[in-house]
Order: sequence, then C-alpha cells, then structure tokens
Amino acid sequence: SSGPLVDTHGRVHRDLRISLTDRCSLRCTYCMPEQGNEWLARTSILDIDEVVRVARVAASVGVSTFRLTGGEPLLRTDLPEIVERLTAITVPDGTGTPVQIALTTNGIGLGEKLPDLMAAGLGRLNISIDTLLRDRFRDLTRRDRLEDVLKGIAAAAASGLRPLKLNAVAMRGVNDDELVDLVRFAIGHGAQLRFIEQMPLDAGHTWDRSSMVTRDEILRSLAEAWTLTPIPGRGGAPAETWQLDDGPHTVGVIASVTAPFCGDCDRLRLTADGQLRNCLFSTTEYDLVPILRAGAAESAVDAAVEGMLRACIHAKLPGHAINDPAFLQPARGMNAIGG
Ligand code: GTP
Ligand code: 5AD
Ligand code: SF4
Repeated sequence: SSGPLVDTHGRVHRDLRISLTDRCSLRCTYCMPEQGNEWLARTSILDIDEVVRVARVAASVGVSTFRLTGGEPLLRTDLPEIVERLTAITVPDGTGTPVQIALTTNGIGLGEKLPDLMAAGLGRLNISIDTLLRDRFRDLTRRDRLEDVLKGIAAAAASGLRPLKLNAVAMRGVNDDELVDLVRFAIGHGAQLRFIEQMPLDAGHTWDRSSMVTRDEILRSLAEAWTLTPIPGRGGAPAETWQLDDGPHTVGVIASVTAPFCGDCDRLRLTADGQLRNCLFSTTEYDLVPILRAGAAESAVDAAVEGMLRACIHAKLPGHAINDPAFLQPARGMNAIGG
C-alpha cells in the first residue's frame, strides 16, 4: 500500500505525538496522582533507535510534524540526540525538506538544555504554566517549583525560538481569576497564551463538567481586558485564536470539550511503551513492540510498522465521546498517553 494516512472519515494524518516517558517532575492534579503512577518498566520504553524507526516510517506515509511529549520529555537524557536524529528525517516529496520537531514541556531544566536542543534542530516549543502564584503552583503540581518553570520560560523567550506557546488548563476556583494575568505574562515573553478546557484524563477519574471552565467563560473573562477579534482558520491546530485589541498579540483557546475539533483531527499518538493510538480517548492500542523487537530484516520491520499505522488510522472513530452520557475515561492517564 502507499499514500498518506487517510481514515474512513477522510482525515489525513500529518502529526505524530511521541511520548518519550511517562515520568514527570511535577504531579499536576489533572494528570497524575500525588504518589505518581506505577511507572512503565524501563525495558518496555522505546529506545532512540526504535523511536526514530517509527518516525521514519510515519514520515514516509506523510507525517511531517513530530511533537515530543511525556510525561516530561526533558527527563529523557537522550532528548537532544532524539531531536537531532528526527530532524534528519525528510518529507518524501524529493525536496529534502526536514520534518518539523516540536516539544511540549513543563519547562523545568529547560534553560540548561535549550542550547543543545536548538543545536539539534528543535523547531517549536510549548510550555505549560497554569498559575503565576507560588502557593497555587505548589498545590496544583504538588511541587514547589514555580521558580524553575519561570526560569525555563525566560530561557525560551530569550532563545528567540518562535512561535512560543504557553499552555494553561483553566480550572474553576484554582486559576480562573488569573486568566488576564497569564495572558499579560505571555505577551511579556513574546509568547501566545492558550487556555485549555480540562479533559477527563486525570488518573483519579475525578473530572467533572462543573469544575471545567468553558471556552465561553474564558472568553468572557478576557473580554473584560481586551476586545477579541477571531482569527479565521486554524490549520488543523486544536486552538482557536483571537487578536487582542488592535494586535499584534493573540490568545488561543483549546476547547476540546465544548467545541471539539475532531472533524479536523490530523493527529496520532505513540506512547513511550510503543503503543499507537488514534485518539487521546481511544480504547484500543496498537502494539509496535513485538514488531520492533522480533529481529526481522529492516524492510520487513518497516512494512509491518506501516501496516500498524494504517490499521490504527483505519479504526479511528469520528470523534471523542466526552459529551456522551455513557462516556468512559481511558484506562491510562494523560502522562502515559502523552498529551
Ligand atoms: P500546536 O501544534 O502548537 O498547536 O500544539 P498542540 O496544541 O497540539 O500541542 P500541546 O502539546 O501544546 O497540547 C495542548 C493541549 O491540546 C493539550 O491539552 C493537549 O492534550 C491538547 N491536544 C493536542 N492534540 C489534541 C487532540 O488531537 N485532541 C484533543 N482533544 N486534544 C488535543
Ligand atoms: N485536560 C487538558 N489538558 C491537559 N493537560 C494535561 N492534562 C490535561 C487534561 N486532563 C495539558 C498540560 C499540557 C498539555 C500537554 O496538556 O497542561 O499543557
Ligand atoms: Fe482527534 Fe481524538 Fe482529539 Fe478528537 S479527541 S481531536 S479525534 S485525538
């Protein structure tokens, strides 16, 4: 077979999100339990050669963006090498254009690691920051590390890598009085703030609709400080964006729950332990480990990986069912699926 990864609903898949570890330096309430999870066994985590091999096959069938996530991807000591080897992959149109490598991180330790990552060819950075207040940060993440995150964001701002995006999950009674401050903070760092509706992916399965701050509530808060003008077209990205006053600054909202973008979804996921998923909320995983570790000839392995990519995409549902009363949360939490 050949051609891009098109599903039965006509969606072409061009964005692979690669989780590199399920471990993290924080314990955000909406993602992990306080005591952490039972971590994946070291031997089940894909090594650099395995990750690069899957990415190479994905690129050969039209995937052009790779986003490295976790857990916290900066905890992988081989991250610069992973970025360097992924950047060497080109899109298959004969022009030699490299694929795009992006990183989603909590920012801790980023300052020290950023020079190597940039030298390795990192293209884009998204950093999570849900609050600017130390006590809140400690309660929310169960770690007193706001200073470290702020240092990471400052380093990213100074690096000149753009666009730079900051992510904040909006939470009622937690940070919903800080939305304007967060946007101002992002503007001061040459970044775009994106607010995220909380999704039911917490390890404790405690998500409830009433504590989710909705897209419309977020927009109402922001409208107290700025005139918001929608920017048309989102190009497959999950965020809707608005211009603030007369520009040039913008803000984004990722309304996965109240305004799902599943109809335009171009993403698939690879977990740190080698499982392909066609959706954050899918209940089926496609295990690449037996294929990668069987010791078969390279061309046979590549063909089998491609077959799994196609099977995974073929089975993709039209969208998530968060808004369906019978919705069941996936067994794994966000940290193990990869944001
Ligand atoms: P860009 O390419 O820069 O737009 O990145 P991104 O927003 O896709 O990635 P990021 O890792 O920063 O994720 C931000 C939020 O969007 C997180 O809460 C993700 O879980 C969520 N998100 C990313 N992709 C999807 C998706 O396909 N479906 C849903 N429902 N949420 C997604
Ligand atoms: N709902 C929405 N976003 C989440 N993230 C983590 N867990 C959730 C959730 N349950 C966000 C992180 C990070 C991005 C990768 O995903 O805050 O910004
Ligand atoms: Fe894609 Fe699933 Fe996210 Fe919908 S919920 S946009 S189908 S990954």
